[in-house]
Amino acid sequence: MHESDRQPKHLSDYAAPDYLIETVDLDFHLEPERTIVHADLAMRPNPEAKAARPLVLDGEGVELISIAVDGKPLQPDEYSATETGLTVPDVPTGPFTLSLKTACNPEANEALLGLYRSNGAFCTQCEPEGFRRITFFLDRPDVLATYRVRLEADKKTNPVLLSNGNPVERGDVEGTDRHYAVWEDPHPKPSYLFAAVAGDLAKISDSFTTQSGREVALNIYVEHGKEDRCDWAMESLKNAMKWDEERFGREYDLDVFNIVAVSDFNMGAMENKGLNIFNDKLVLARPDTASDADYAAIEGVIAHEYFHNWTGNRITCRDWFQLCLKEGLTVFRDQEFSADLRAGPVKRILDVRNLKSRQFPEDSGPLAHPVRPGSYIEINNFYTATVYEKGAELCRMLQTMLGRDDFRKGLDLYFERHDGQAVTVEDFLAALADASGKDLSEFMHWYNQAGTPELACSLDYDQQSKTATLNVSQILPATPGQPNKEPMPIPLRIGLLGPNGDDLPLTLEDGTELSDGLLEVTEREQSFTFTGIPTPPTPSLLREFSAPVRLTQTIDLEQIEFLMMHDSDPFNRWQAAQSYAAKLLTDAARDRYNPEPVKGQGASRLAKALAVTANEEELAYAYRGEMLKLPSESDIARELARNIDTDAIREARETLRETIGNAIHADLAGIYEELADTGPYSPDGISAGKRSMRIAALDLLVGSGKDDELERAAAHYRGATNMTDAIYSLLILAPHDDPRRDEAMADFYERWKDDALVLDKWFAVQARSARPDSVEIVEGLLSHPKFSLKNPNRVRALIGSFANGNPTGFNRKDGAGYEFLAECALRIDKFNPHMAARLLGAFESWRFLEPNREAHAKATLEGLANAELSTDSYEIVSKTLG
Ligand code: ARG
Ligand code: ZN
Repeated sequence: MHESDRQPKHLSDYAAPDYLIETVDLDFHLEPERTIVHADLAMRPNPEAKAARPLVLDGEGVELISIAVDGKPLQPDEYSATETGLTVPDVPTGPFTLSLKTACNPEANEALLGLYRSNGAFCTQCEPEGFRRITFFLDRPDVLATYRVRLEADKKTNPVLLSNGNPVERGDVEGTDRHYAVWEDPHPKPSYLFAAVAGDLAKISDSFTTQSGREVALNIYVEHGKEDRCDWAMESLKNAMKWDEERFGREYDLDVFNIVAVSDFNMGAMENKGLNIFNDKLVLARPDTASDADYAAIEGVIAHEYFHNWTGNRITCRDWFQLCLKEGLTVFRDQEFSADLRAGPVKRILDVRNLKSRQFPEDSGPLAHPVRPGSYIEINNFYTATVYEKGAELCRMLQTMLGRDDFRKGLDLYFERHDGQAVTVEDFLAALADASGKDLSEFMHWYNQAGTPELACSLDYDQQSKTATLNVSQILPATPGQPNKEPMPIPLRIGLLGPNGDDLPLTLEDGTELSDGLLEVTEREQSFTFTGIPTPPTPSLLREFSAPVRLTQTIDLEQIEFLMMHDSDPFNRWQAAQSYAAKLLTDAARDRYNPEPVKGQGASRLAKALAVTANEEELAYAYRGEMLKLPSESDIARELARNIDTDAIREARETLRETIGNAIHADLAGIYEELADTGPYSPDGISAGKRSMRIAALDLLVGSGKDDELERAAAHYRGATNMTDAIYSLLILAPHDDPRRDEAMADFYERWKDDALVLDKWFAVQARSARPDSVEIVEGLLSHPKFSLKNPNRVRALIGSFANGNPTGFNRKDGAGYEFLAECALRIDKFNPHMAARLLGAFESWRFLEPNREAHAKATLEGLANAELSTDSYEIVSKTLG
């Protein structure tokens, strides 16, 4: 480990590159254990850089075989090549060609960055800094070049040879068993968008004609035998291409669009120009192998990577501090796409739930960082919920404040102005401001300030003047390195409900009519007075979740119940149900467990209200299903905020589940029976909604504790004809000590033991199941013959699901869960630091635990800090300890 790797890099130190690269000519001689790369780089000094400097290229573990400048080989004293780079002190002052011959070992590459092997195929992952593991290069996003790539490999084992752009030539290498293919990408791109794939893969093909008439060949490459699992991904791709033309006027720009699915992949997928590489989990789906949630995830991620073609590829980031520029905007775009295709309000609920469960804890813990961080040690650690999901919320707020039309105009200007460039968040905001005429200078605080703002609201009603005044203050919590913060512009969408539940007209004191209920909070403290309010109204605040803030308000249970029955905003109606339950649950789990709140009056009122909503036929099935889901154990932990006892939380939640399951048993059983026939499987929103609602009812029924309800779940599993019904009934059965649980688990294993993606679910269900012996169960599964630490999907399925999806197991009182995670992470850290560091993120909320658990977590973290760690894990552990 080089100590220099542990020095933070700072945004304020940004300097333009000393040299530019115009064209890149790559020739790969692919061999599993020794791949030779010839690179011809057409370079020149950057006119914008200061005086002539030595040429310094990035490299990581690349072996230099030879080097020449303008065709003249360099002597050993004319350059220096190390583990981390290549320096040439003396290069021409004008344009020159640098020729490099290097070697790397894909087979030994277990970090899965650069060129590596997955199931016998060659593939690449270059974002953010993987290209330097393939050859020496200016491996930074502000160096854009056009690429010509020749791939040569054994023909029999690698019939497929792919790279970015369009195919231009292919043929056999005479007198050998080898063949080659040449690809050209006319669009200048940074090295992180480079990709190459070679192997023996099957493909399915289709085509798409763009709005201007370009015919695009679409291919999805998968392992042989998986061809029947690609239809959904292909359909999603075509939907995404069409949607981006209609909604944002963005058209595809090459003759082919290729997707390759691989089974060993650190993240979800990668938007390489014209050659997206995917974790196969986010491509492959068949009704019997993939759940509705998998189908939705595939649709979203296929769209996400496709949308990057404009937001990321045509316009890229100047430096990695600007990662949110492409990720936040592209997540926002994929969320809008999915919302347009399915029930919009349900998509919003799912996105907000995801934001709160993954980003809010990050933002309130030791790893909190701004959406655009000011410093980092290892950029791979910054592919976070903050950069992605909060980044998307910032784009959404911009759209809300500008209005859809001006936001679209702003994006049009952004594309027009910056096509082919590597830019910054400031450039993005300038385009939106210029196109709309709105001053967005204060909005920059959202990008630079970490932490979730608290929006504390109260409503005062004045009988005399018939006015209602909303008092708002924004409280900006201190985060690491940022003790004091500036107030931020916050779009706050609201409604005021009259006595019959209707929205009252909103007229501000100065006569302004708020037809859309949108206020803009800009000060630390601010008041808004509404006139003509006949009686005290019920406030519905932060409708649609119009800003990523933590809303606190003085509101009693009756008012929440009123919103739950009447709010015209579907998001807030759902939120009211959640808040109601959360209030009961936190009252029960705070300090010492007290069953009264989850058994008494309030709990039965909640149950009744849920039954009413669940029976409202005008509401979408999926929406009613969401209404029936109680806040998760981690939702409750977050609400409690400190002194967290995960056992008390679970006990409270299980009791509320029991109370509700009994109180509205007949309604739930009715729903369950009524939705029994969902017909042949279709992933569409309505069918998926029915399944989701039915399973939510089943979950509460089983929660009632009646034995015939457990039988109902077992029968549900046995009768399942699709993965959604199978996996959710298995999940419901999993915590129970019952032969029917063991039978279902064994049946699932027997049926799917040779199908990696489905078997991952079998590992995950056990890892997530709350049992006193979960730690031992998960530990035991580490030595299961089908388990491997080398495959990221399997690691996430077992270890990730345990650490992030099993709060009572991971936070077991004796600290065994923490020790288990630390041991796994240490083993993985030796070969895949990126993966290990991500797992260690599960410790981020340790300071909010009750003292005993907190002490165990601290001891484990200190043990880690004393171990030999990669740079990735070092950054997470040291920052988490604080
Ligand atoms: N840009 C990819 C995306 O679509 C993520 C790639 C991240 N990979 C990594 N090794 N950090 O979100
Ligand atoms: Zn992305």
